[in-house]
Amino acid sequence: MASDDDAPTPEKGFLQGLQSYGDRDFSIYMRRAFAKSMGYSADELARPVVGIAFTHSRFNPCHRHFPELLEAVKRGVAAAGGLALEFPTISLHESTLAPNSMKFRNLMAMDTEEMIRAQPMDAVVLMGGCDKTVPAQLMAAASANKPAIQLIGGPQMTSRYRDDRVGACTDCRKFWVKFRAGEIGRAEIEAVESRLVTTAGTCAVMGTASTMAAIAEALGMTLPGTAAIPAVHADRLRAAEATGAEAVRLIASGLTPDRIITAKAIENATRVLLALGGSTNGVVHLAAIAGRVGVKLDLRRFNELSDTTPVLAAVKPVGNEFYMEDFFAAGGIGAVLRELRSLLHLDCMTVTGETLGERLGAEEGAYVDRRVIAPADKPFEPQGGLVALFGSLAPDGAILKRSAATPSLFEKEGRAVVFSSLEDMAQRIDDPRLDVTADDILVLQNAGPRSPYGMPEAGFLPIPKKLLAQGVKDMVRLSDARMSGTAYGTIVLHVAPEAAAGGPLGLVRTGDRIRLSVKERRLDLLVDKAELDKRRAEAAGRDEKLPARGYDRLFRETVLQAPEGCDFDFLRPAASAE
Ligand code: FES
Repeated sequence: MASDDDAPTPEKGFLQGLQSYGDRDFSIYMRRAFAKSMGYSADELARPVVGIAFTHSRFNPCHRHFPELLEAVKRGVAAAGGLALEFPTISLHESTLAPNSMKFRNLMAMDTEEMIRAQPMDAVVLMGGCDKTVPAQLMAAASANKPAIQLIGGPQMTSRYRDDRVGACTDCRKFWVKFRAGEIGRAEIEAVESRLVTTAGTCAVMGTASTMAAIAEALGMTLPGTAAIPAVHADRLRAAEATGAEAVRLIASGLTPDRIITAKAIENATRVLLALGGSTNGVVHLAAIAGRVGVKLDLRRFNELSDTTPVLAAVKPVGNEFYMEDFFAAGGIGAVLRELRSLLHLDCMTVTGETLGERLGAEEGAYVDRRVIAPADKPFEPQGGLVALFGSLAPDGAILKRSAATPSLFEKEGRAVVFSSLEDMAQRIDDPRLDVTADDILVLQNAGPRSPYGMPEAGFLPIPKKLLAQGVKDMVRLSDARMSGTAYGTIVLHVAPEAAAGGPLGLVRTGDRIRLSVKERRLDLLVDKAELDKRRAEAAGRDEKLPARGYDRLFRETVLQAPEGCDFDFLRPAASAE
């Protein structure tokens, strides 16, 4: 047994970061007294401390397996000689947060960062999964800059509905479109509802959660090969145990996130995002993570990377067959990284202390299922799945997921049909009297980060019912909102500056002409300057109502635009804060 005299110095371990009573020894005495109330021995309290950011919540179905994962992490920490102490943070789920989970990503990042910094831990394991949790944790880890390792929760397994193999949530949308079109009735859509999500874990497709898991691994912040392991697979538990053990080794190596999340690593992660045809939300989150280490995710550079990065994975919503469990069995992120090898910065450090190049070298010759992950010289698409657009309608950029869009709509001029808000859209979109044809371009305004909705996933504007009845499956739709990573269609998102920040999107009127050119990377409003100046002057007279207080007020006053990742301005490093 260790005696109190053997306790670590207050610079590390459980006695670091003492309270300011003005009496150091009293602070130590008080901290030990309370720790002993939990039954810890002096021996345990003398060990290196691994904090575990534990995001289990009954409001977060994607994390319902986290208690079992936590036990595995703690086993790993203990076996490696550390003391594992889990702590709760905010947990975010897509379907249980109003007005939307994105509104709270920065709050979770603040909570996590401050708890990592304030509590006596030498390293932290970040347990995340559902869409906004992993970016929030990576943002927090980058800012707190204590040794950190991400543990991904893993995707759900697919299920069956009659003859269909189904998984959330690309198939959720597929069935909902059928229901809206009258192809299936109320009883059937209710039957589908209980078949879409049947295991723990995150959405079963390459949505935002799986994209962010891939980004975390590409950045070097997870153990290799762990991003895509299904939530209920035994490998997921082994990954959790190994992550706990790795956290203890991280303490000894002193490897901090600032040496892992670098400009080069951000570029590697961007390549992976593009090669996966990953979620458009990944662009916003990656910009936010980059911003925390003082790196700008330049959308023009993003296009250069997109032009030179092939699409290598065919996981829904890209393609129509494969899910994340197939992607994992096919070789996972490691297989994609190996195919991208000649395009990556191989000298980037990873959380294990190996460089990316060393990691990939050790995996040479590993199995790959070529139906799901293509070789670089025979890709599914020669160019990246996402593209940034610029022009008079999006001076600071907009994003289109071309890999999930309809190529025949890529070069298109059409008449705008404008909805000024989500309420306006909800009231009119299915009105049989709505003046709209399949040739028009649907425009949604005031759904960006500074809007009252806080940039919801409303960019997947529904096709008006009367057009659905005519068999219309896709049309050009654009907004300053986001879209779920599981959605698909010719949908232009994240138009910046947003309407609520005075962007030209807010000046569009029904009947205006809009031109989209994916080839030229352009999005233009074909209205002359004098008319736009007149509209701008009229708009300037309207009052912007600020929320009276609290987080809403903080959010509206400090949130940055989509190209800066919608982080709060004051959370970025002082030198890069705007
Ligand atoms: Fe959690 Fe899709 S709702 S990942």
